[in-house]
Amino acid sequence: MKTRRLTEDETKTAAGILRDGGLVAFPTETVYGLGADGLNPEAVMSIFAAKGRPSDNPLILHISDRRMLERIVAEIPPVAEELMQAFWPGPLTLVFRKSEAVPSEVSAGLATVAVRMPDHELALRLIRETGRPIAAPSANRSGRPSPTSADHVLQDLDGRIDAVLLGEPSEVGMESTIVDVSGDKPCLLRPGGLTLEEVRRIAPETTVAGSTGHGEAPRAPGMKYRHYAPDAEVVLLQGDLGQQLAFIDEAHRKGLHREPFALMACQEMIDVWTGKESGLEMTLFSLGSRHQDKTLGKNVYAYLREADQAGIRTVFVESFKEENMGRTIMNRLKKAAHAGKESL
Ligand code: TXA
Ligand code: MG
Repeated sequence: MKTRRLTEDETKTAAGILRDGGLVAFPTETVYGLGADGLNPEAVMSIFAAKGRPSDNPLILHISDRRMLERIVAEIPPVAEELMQAFWPGPLTLVFRKSEAVPSEVSAGLATVAVRMPDHELALRLIRETGRPIAAPSANRSGRPSPTSADHVLQDLDGRIDAVLLGEPSEVGMESTIVDVSGDKPCLLRPGGLTLEEVRRIAPETTVAGSTGHGEAPRAPGMKYRHYAPDAEVVLLQGDLGQQLAFIDEAHRKGLHREPFALMACQEMIDVWTGKESGLEMTLFSLGSRHQDKTLGKNVYAYLREADQAGIRTVFVESFKEENMGRTIMNRLKKAAHAGKESL
């Protein structure tokens, strides 16, 4: 199959492909999505085939207006109204009890459906012109870092999907935050582009899945799969800043990890490394200032892909405090680091 490259002026063509049951990747503010008509079971199934994704992992429906929401959910709890009012359109996915209109291929047999209104003009126009909710996971091959540019999408899916809508790189760079509003209290299933602190400003009673200490299963089914992993080994540094950097020198001296190395960290840590003049040549991936919390996650996935293209074998990553965007980044990097270990 030849994958068409569509420009911003060709959303009508993209919408036509979706209505005919085809697959179109499109930009959103979080990451690029791989879209199919969310009410067409066969089209939805082809998403799983193109990505190589297990079909027991449910998909998010992307909507452009309230009417679409009412069509696909069974009820809208008051706390959901407040969260939507505060954060939609934006990087927040809400899990509702689903209506009959949602095919079980989307929800993977669950009684709930995940819904998001993206904060992205092209995405919203595409959904509007398609006239239906668009089911879309991140547009990567299953297990690879999520794509934050059209190039990343083509690296993974060229020849496997009908078209990609060419847009700018994603602003947020991390997937949406998922909050389940179908139960008694809102529950954070996946930290993402909206921080838990922001969610709790509107819904202070929000709990965190898996944090009760009772060993409960993660409730976003996708959290159990291998995720976000480049070919390079990802090593999460430990300890204070000095210890984190000392470990890299030690790894080099003792041959603990394969070279070439890269370091992905905030600019402040990179400045300290550069000032040390340790004599060890290493690629430096700066995530920007640690004080610019909102944009810290923007380039994480892009750098992981860049590391592979540059032939880097080990990416050392700074450990961030698990609050605000640091919580999201650590969630993804722990998975990337863990996946590397499993594959050894
Ligand atoms: O930012 C995003 O959320 C991007 C863009 C394209 O919108 N999409 C995305 O989709 O990250 P995906 O498929 O890579 O991740 C969706 C996550 C999975 O972990 C899945 O298990 C969870 O959402 N999920 C979907 N439906 C659910 C449901 N009904 N209940 C619980 N978790 C659900
Ligand atoms: Mg994904």
